[in-house]
Amino acid sequence: RKPVTVPGLRAMKAEGRKITMLTAYDASFAAHLEAADVDVALVGDSLGMVVQGRSSTLPVTVDDMVYHTIMVARGLSSTLLVADLPFMSDRDVPSALDAAARLVGQGGAAMVKIEGAGRICEVISAIVERDIPVCGHLGLTPQSVHKFGGYKVQGKQQDAADKLVADSKAVEAAGADMLVLECIPSALGARISRELSIPVIGIGAGVDCDGQVLVVYDMLGLTPGKRPKFSKDFLSGRDSIQGAIAAYVADVRSGQFPGVEHGFN
Ligand code: KIV
Ligand code: NA
Repeated sequence: RKPVTVPGLRAMKAEGRKITMLTAYDASFAAHLEAADVDVALVGDSLGMVVQGRSSTLPVTVDDMVYHTIMVARGLSSTLLVADLPFMSDRDVPSALDAAARLVGQGGAAMVKIEGAGRICEVISAIVERDIPVCGHLGLTPQSVHKFGGYKVQGKQQDAADKLVADSKAVEAAGADMLVLECIPSALGARISRELSIPVIGIGAGVDCDGQVLVVYDMLGLTPGKRPKFSKDFLSGRDSIQGAIAAYVADVRSGQFPGVEHGFN
């Protein structure tokens, strides 16, 4: 397979081909994503919860992210590698540039993901100006958990929905090449995907986004506790991790996943 590139992802949106994305935190999982032709591997700061066992993503450090990104990069050859800027590493432009430089330069990421809009747009522009592609992340941004008062669906009221549309456009205008939307009403996910020219990747944002992402431990039934409503156990009824990841890729590409039952209204 030819390497997946940032311009290639834009072309996929233009051609109406769904983008497949999963998290990975180590070389073995990365190799399974690669073997299943997953388009994008995300070293998410969700590793703070599913790998480190913490109750939020807030304690994750740039060092943690660089360590995991290096390991994931070793398992990949053609899958595009994206890494999260962890909590407060985006507090100002110099700090964000340092973190992005380490994730790309040391870690081997091709793109960095940043939560938020507003003043974060200045940070996005500064990174993009150094030709490091940026993925935005709006909706339920887990680094905002204390502000939200828990992990709650965002953009349900009309004014909140309008703000999410405006923020999404601001992130695109700041120079982002992709946007993740987490836990918002499906109709809002569809609207933002339609109104933006960059690819929009949903997690709990309905079937009409340009692509889908899940936490790999959730979609394999590995994460202890209750599975989130927007996720699905793809290992259930199958006999291998490789088969489960391949089924996810096939179901996202065909529009079979997510179903309406995985979305919010
Ligand atoms: O950290 C993560 O895994 C993420 C995805 C859920 C989008 O940001
Ligand atoms: Na994240």
